[in-house]
Amino acid sequence: MRIVIVSNRLPVSITKDKKNNNKFQKSAGGLATSIGAYTEKITELSYTWVGWPGIGTTIKSEQDEITDSLQNIHCYPVFLTEKEMDKFYLGFCNRTIWPLFHYFPTIASFKKEYYNMYKSVNLKFAKALSNIINENEDIIWVHDYHLMLLPSLLRQSYPTLAIGFFLHIPFPAYEVFQLLPSQWRIEIIEGLLGADLIGFHTHEYTDNFLRATLRFAGLENHLGVINNKGRLVKVGTHPISIDYLKFSKTAKSPSVISKTQEIKNQFKNKKILFSVDRLDYTKGILNRLLGFEYFLDKYPAWRESITLIIVVVPSRIGVFHYQQMKKQIDETIGRINGKFSTVEWTPIVYKFGSLDFENLVSFYSASDIMLVTPLRDGMNLVAKEFIASKQEKNGVLILSEMAGSAKELLEALIINPNSIEEIGEAIKKALDMSKEEQSQRIEKMQERISRYNVFRWVSDYLNELNKTTLLQKQME
Ligand code: UDP
Ligand code: G6P
Repeated sequence: MRIVIVSNRLPVSITKDKKNNNKFQKSAGGLATSIGAYTEKITELSYTWVGWPGIGTTIKSEQDEITDSLQNIHCYPVFLTEKEMDKFYLGFCNRTIWPLFHYFPTIASFKKEYYNMYKSVNLKFAKALSNIINENEDIIWVHDYHLMLLPSLLRQSYPTLAIGFFLHIPFPAYEVFQLLPSQWRIEIIEGLLGADLIGFHTHEYTDNFLRATLRFAGLENHLGVINNKGRLVKVGTHPISIDYLKFSKTAKSPSVISKTQEIKNQFKNKKILFSVDRLDYTKGILNRLLGFEYFLDKYPAWRESITLIIVVVPSRIGVFHYQQMKKQIDETIGRINGKFSTVEWTPIVYKFGSLDFENLVSFYSASDIMLVTPLRDGMNLVAKEFIASKQEKNGVLILSEMAGSAKELLEALIINPNSIEEIGEAIKKALDMSKEEQSQRIEKMQERISRYNVFRWVSDYLNELNKTTLLQKQME
């Protein structure tokens, strides 16, 4: 048995170095890190990961060279042209579906040319897969909102192929999904129904999808099983997780212990607030900054005794709303620092860039409070990673109720990210929390994440997929 993982972005992205040579870089984002953690660890796994390599070359010899080098790491590239990237990736994926599914309908664009390109790129993936699929051997696992039409495109050619689909972002309430033009929304639902198992992070997203399926495709479900013209499709909730041990072990490693100490020394006698996300308007970064400003205004005694370290990882900079968000973040940080800074103290330390794994774990481990304040987030793995890295069981997680992870991390300080006041007051509450309470809360969350880690997530999902295909066979 081989698993064919399909996602728009491969776990490595290729960029050019100064000498114009190809450079492999780990892709950012929850999908790449979680599934990547699984494929890295399960060495006996037979798999191929199909997706876009992050580079848009149309030169055949370059494509061949990339294809060869990716083969060594189980990856198979689907090359997208600049036009496809523009209308498919920057267009329908990130100007239509991403804002809409994250409840930002007013900035969603509904251009037909974007949707047409979405269809055509989904077809391109189906064709690329037909070069490698072995219907009797393979399980196909399609990931995320870029490829929602792919399951049914594959189903047309492979009636008995095991196909799973997993959505890494929210599936919105029916009223929001309804904003998509009628033909597109029905094609998206039908596209997904080509899979045997459709997975979501939370019960809410699952219910939203089932309701949309009833309303727009007229299909009822029985305990999450839909009979789609004689073929059974299971719809289920599978909250994704992290490689808990990788974080907990790294946090205890000598090099991370010494980096953690270095960070603590650098911010001596100050409490450290930390946040890290991709640059994205869904992540609530502005509200977080305003919440910190509120805190400094209301509790002046804390000034000079607390620092917010904020890391923003560059993302989708080709989309206007991301550029705008970057500008607003820069300006807001500049303004808050201008308002409160003293000769000895800068309230916000800001990095626009990425962190390597050891540094990321060191920051999680060194910080007293982690701020995770998305306005909407499918899951949010950063929150789980922070908890897993807290091996001394000190520290407080402030977590938005709009993140899927809030359904599991019940011992965090749960806030509504639309309220600047709630964020500011949660910082105060976190600072006042006793060591015993911090430790009790962290322990409970660690227990849950370590048990339901990414390996359990994959095995539960694949077992469920297997059960559905067996049920299918019994029906035939
Ligand atoms: N991450 C990363 N590069 C960094 C910092 C973080 O790849 O410089 C990782 C982080 O460890 C986490 C992922 O990016 O696994 C972010 O996942 P999350 O679910 O929080 O949000 P997403 O980016 O998928 O919306
Ligand atoms: C989120 C999405 C992923 C995506 C990642 C990074 O995690 O769910 O599908 O890969 O963001 O975004 P990008 O646009 O750079 O692939």
